[in-house]
Parts: sequence; C-alpha cells; structure tokens
Amino acid sequence: MNGMSESLRKELNRQFNHELMAAHHYEALAWWCTHRTLPGFARFFRKQAGEEREHADRIGRHLIDRGVEPRVEALPAPESLPESLLEVARYARRLEQNNSRGIHAAYEAALAARDYPAQVMLHWFIREQVEEEAWTAEMVGRVEAADCAGALLELDRHIEKLLEQREEQGD
Ligand code: FEO
Repeated sequence: MNGMSESLRKELNRQFNHELMAAHHYEALAWWCTHRTLPGFARFFRKQAGEEREHADRIGRHLIDRGVEPRVEALPAPESLPESLLEVARYARRLEQNNSRGIHAAYEAALAARDYPAQVMLHWFIREQVEEEAWTAEMVGRVEAADCAGALLELDRHIEKLLEQREEQGD
C-alpha cells in the first residue's frame, strides 16, 4: 500500500527534516546552558532534543510504512547565539511556534490529498504541539519572573530536581 500524493510526500519529508532541525537547535541550546553552568536547563533541552528525534522517527516510520523513503537533508545552523537565558527561552518558544505551523501545513496537505492515514498520524502531532507551545510559554514566563542571577540559579536547580524525579518515576 502506498498511494501517497507527491505533494504530501514532500510536505511530510519537509516536516521530518523540520523535527530533526528542532533536535539540532535544542542541542545548541543545551550546550549554551552547559557552558554557563545551568545544568537543569541543559538537561531539559537535551531531553527535548531526544523527543524531537522521536518525532522525526514517527514521521519517518509512517513514510516507510507507506513505501516512501524519508530523505535526510542538510540542517540549518541555529540563528545567532542567544545572549541571555531569556533569549534562550524565547528561542525555544519560536522553535515550537514554527513547528506548529509546519505540522498544520502538513495536515492541510493531508486534507487536500484526502489521505486519511496521514491525517490520523498527524492528529498526535497537533495535540503534542499544544503542549509544546504551552511549556515554552511557561518557561519564558518563569525566566522573565526570575529577575536576578540567584533566582535563575534557583529555577535551574528546580528544573534539575523535577527532571530527576520524573526519571525516577520512569517518565
Ligand atoms: Fe516536534 Fe517540539 O515538536
């Protein structure tokens, strides 16, 4: 079974690469934080990079199951490096907003092609993006509220503890 339209193939392959690009950029944010001794944020962004690769895998798997070969393309380097943690948080928010636009464009292509399997596969992503945009908005808000270096370090420790607890719970 294949039957996927050419335009939908292109859209899904574009989004497949977009997810890989998001992973690449989250890696950059993780190293930015590591370099500035913010291990909590670094760990968080590294985990996020892993999730983005899983998102790419989901789309790649769908293409394979439909007899289409996913094509990995060159990934653009991150924009100019952020100068503050607030810029890092805003960068992550922009990544997710762009990702939502990409998912919606892929979904519109699936609707236009009347491709029901691709529509069902993309429902998961549409839901996921609501969560992803929500956490990045929350992160921007929390970093904005931390108005001194001490408060940022406290926030970093809080994130690290939260991730440790989640890992212990197998989340
Ligand atoms: Fe793959 Fe952050 O969305």
